Amino acid sequence: MARRTHTVACLPGDGIGPEVVAEARKAVDAAAARFGFRLDWVDYDLGADRYLRTGEVLPETVLKELCEVGAVLLGAVGRPDVAPGVLERGLLLRLRFELDLYVNLRPVRLYPGVPSPLAGKGPEDVDMLVVRENTEGLYVGAGGTAHRGSPAEVATETALNSRAGVERCVRYAAARALDRDGRMTLVHKTNVLTHSGDLWMRTAREVADQTGVRLDYCHVDAACLHMVNDPGRFDVIVTDNLFGDILTDLGAAIAGGLGTAASANLNPGSGPGWVAPSLFEPVHGSAPDIAGTGRASPIAAVLSAGLMLDHLGEREAAAALERAVIAVLPGAAGYSTKEIGDQIAVAVSREVSA
Ligand code: IPM
Ligand code: MN
Repeated sequence: MARRTHTVACLPGDGIGPEVVAEARKAVDAAAARFGFRLDWVDYDLGADRYLRTGEVLPETVLKELCEVGAVLLGAVGRPDVAPGVLERGLLLRLRFELDLYVNLRPVRLYPGVPSPLAGKGPEDVDMLVVRENTEGLYVGAGGTAHRGSPAEVATETALNSRAGVERCVRYAAARALDRDGRMTLVHKTNVLTHSGDLWMRTAREVADQTGVRLDYCHVDAACLHMVNDPGRFDVIVTDNLFGDILTDLGAAIAGGLGTAASANLNPGSGPGWVAPSLFEPVHGSAPDIAGTGRASPIAAVLSAGLMLDHLGEREAAAALERAVIAVLPGAAGYSTKEIGDQIAVAVSREVSA
């Protein structure tokens, strides 16, 4: 019998990206061998090196090829010798927009054995799912500068919020909430951002009415406070692009740091026809200061690859991979990137079906 095969584009990128992606691949290949499918990896050298050598960030030909794969696994982009924004906007954000990856799914989970900076809080207190809108808001680049460099200089940055864009994101969050405990908290700033806040609020209320999800609301500043003082009050959070960016770094901190923070940039698809591949990346970024030292944790990349397996329909393998991470994590401190990757690969190859 032919084994199921998933074609995955691999974009290790910059800094610690290649180191952690190598371990994520190893873990995923071990899971695939254990659960009877295979990954067909296609490598791309996009990132700072290629940009500095050729001036290319995301050539059209590559973008076309990426549209044809099953999923994309990305390490990190950005390096101090490339101007800020060139790779972030030109590669990562461009992929989010071109592939219409409208959900940025970021689990905030404190795993057993991982110390949290929150005194007295354990895994049962920190377990939430942030659904960040990923194609609109302040990230669209709508704005401009006038009289640059003069005392009269003016800069604008306009947030775009479309009914359709907000609604599809909120509907996704509501569906996830119904899989969990049926609660969804909208995080926004409706007391100040009255135009976009009103759109988000009305949309969330309508979706809640239609789906039966229980809707809570929290201003983003208060949400920061509660995430630290009382994280257990949150389960599924739905929020706009920039709030979600900021909130999930705070989420990573309370869950013990960026070492375990995974993310999925999803195009969940709607209706028949072609659906763009989704993109999976650790939240931590390229961390050039520790690149090449073997000190980067591959866990966030492994967990992101686990989200990828889940999205590809390999649910059992995804769950087994997460269990393998949970088994390895408590003893992982002090081991190198590669050693942790090896331990996870061994643990997952011993996994049995749940
Ligand atoms: C993230 C990152 C990106 C973002 C940057 C690198 C553009 O911070 O994925 O959270 O702001 O979305
Ligand atoms: Mn971020």
